[in-house]
Amino acid sequence: MRLKNKVAIVTGSARGIGEAMVRDFVNEGASVIISDILEKEGQALASELQNEGHNVYFFKTDVSSEQNVKELVAFTVEKFGKINILCNNAAINIPGSVTELTEDIWDRTMDVNVKSQFLVSKHVIPIMQQSGGGSIINTASANSFVAEPRLSAYVSSKGAILMLTRAMALDYAKDNIRVNCICPGWVDTTFNDAHADLFGGREAILKDIDSIQPIGRPIEPIEIAKVATFLASDDSSALTGSPIIADGGITAGV
Ligand SMILES: NC(=O)c1ccc[n+]([C@@H]2O[C@H](COP(=O)([O-])OP(=O)(O)OC[C@H]3O[C@@H](n4cnc5c(N)ncnc54)[C@H](O)[C@@H]3O)[C@@H](O)[C@H]2O)c1
Repeated sequence: MRLKNKVAIVTGSARGIGEAMVRDFVNEGASVIISDILEKEGQALASELQNEGHNVYFFKTDVSSEQNVKELVAFTVEKFGKINILCNNAAINIPGSVTELTEDIWDRTMDVNVKSQFLVSKHVIPIMQQSGGGSIINTASANSFVAEPRLSAYVSSKGAILMLTRAMALDYAKDNIRVNCICPGWVDTTFNDAHADLFGGREAILKDIDSIQPIGRPIEPIEIAKVATFLASDDSSALTGSPIIADGGITAGV
């Protein structure tokens, strides 16, 4: 129960890595707000965990909208009275090179992946300051360090998250707010499907995965959630501004 009495918001948590974070956090004793644009899936996850006796609620949020973000933070404070942990995890992944992408896709990628982390942090940090500190965990990527073909908006957004993490770590260290990011490799969710389709499809890539990811298998969402739990807990008390690279070795040989 490393997160007993802690309150967490996890964005983009109706499925995938965010869902795994929610499950691990409640198992460690946290109260959690599940936040996503996917209402049916988010509500179903909340109901399942509530039936198991966990302290969770779903709140529908588009994290690229400041108004929605303010409502999410107000809802969390109304339900739980404080916020100790924020996982900025929501993102989209629309493939394309610069000449393939439209301005709209570029803007939407930056809004959902980067501006959202600025907005949610902006409105959560004052609550953390009032309660003596907190832990912010941004989901970045191996693509914060290495690019991939035909993925220019996404890799740019993940590069920006690494520097946003470091900037926030410097600004709020004095408030006992730690800010770190997780940089996953290829995780087994549907997130990469559209990009994989440009290179022969998911099955073709998985067949050859050891040429991309040295551990020779996709990473499971729970393996990333375990890193988030470590960063959320006091076990990581010396870490701030740190990228934790959980990429199955992708960047080791670069
Ligand atoms: N899957 C991978 O291989 C991989 C690798 C590196 C990093 N990541 C990162 O992990 C995080 C989670 O990815 P995932 O693989 O679980 O993908 P996913 O698509 O399963 O989860 C992303 C979630 O974000 C939500 N979302 C999208 N736009 C939103 C918005 N505007 N407001 C609120 N929620 C929104 C989606 O509905 C979805 O539930 C992302 O930040 C992604 O960049 C994933």
